[in-house]
Amino acid sequence: MNTEKLLEGKKILIMGVANQRSIAWAIAKAYAAAGAELAFTYQDDRFRDKVARLVEKEMPGSLLLPCDVSKDSDIEAVVRSLQEEWGVLHGAVHSLAYAKKEELEGMFAHTSRDGFLMAHEISAYSLVAASKYLYPLMSEGGSILTLTFQGSERVVTNYNVMGVAKASLEASVRYLASDLGPLGIRVNAVSAGPIKTLSAKGVKDFNRLLTGVEERTPLRRLADADDVACTAVFLASDLSCAVTGSVIHTDCGYHIMGT
Ligand SMILES: NC(=O)c1ccc[n+]([C@@H]2O[C@H](COP(=O)([O-])OP(=O)(O)OC[C@H]3O[C@@H](n4cnc5c(N)ncnc54)[C@H](O)[C@@H]3O)[C@@H](O)[C@H]2O)c1
Repeated sequence: MNTEKLLEGKKILIMGVANQRSIAWAIAKAYAAAGAELAFTYQDDRFRDKVARLVEKEMPGSLLLPCDVSKDSDIEAVVRSLQEEWGVLHGAVHSLAYAKKEELEGMFAHTSRDGFLMAHEISAYSLVAASKYLYPLMSEGGSILTLTFQGSERVVTNYNVMGVAKASLEASVRYLASDLGPLGIRVNAVSAGPIKTLSAKGVKDFNRLLTGVEERTPLRRLADADDVACTAVFLASDLSCAVTGSVIHTDCGYHIMGT
């Protein structure tokens, strides 16, 4: 698809690249191809070298900053760097989540207090925190985008507390969209179908989930990270100027299927 120039002149922050399989990386590549200027955050030192190598190879010169979203001070430092470097921001992609591995199997009823709080802090509250600090930089209007999964709406075996955190994330999208709309800032989510990534591996029997979904999608295939990136380009671009507060499914239609 030729999206050349669709995002020309836009400065966009990408949060959540861990490696080349990350959905955030597919989005970054699509944004760069569409002419956007990008800055990246990585979670911590464990990810720095890998992300730096990827960025240096394909988008040399891009700003690269550490940001553990559980720390307000990290998010504030990112905002300070963006302010100094760019002075304005047109978009942000929040493509991150976390739950303890032991919460992503067995009974949801066995979720620990600590596991519930951690999943919600990293996977849902972080969108609110990022938006709170980033929106003042979006003085020319902007687009904030997050990634969600259908486990927020229906029970998906082993997705457990992450499904509940995604429901919170989607509700946060609506409240943020209402608050920030008057400033010309749109907030949306892409609900991606299952994709093999580092995080996905944490969900027990994820491969079985992939097979089950692939057999039943109306399009008879799985959506991949590049498919998600196409929707993300639309949501960052002026083509979606009247779209906010929405959750757009990019899953080859799986979400419409009943039994
Ligand atoms: N892979 C799927 O099947 C799928 C489907 C729908 C939605 N999603 C969502 O897409 C998003 C991206 O996940 P992915 O599948 O690309 O996996 P990924 O493992 O590549 O990305 C997850 C990212 O979250 C980051 N992260 C975790 N804790 C963090 C913290 N405290 N501070 C900062 N960053 C932190 C990790 O560093 C990593 O970059 C997530 O929100 C995920 O829930 C994934």
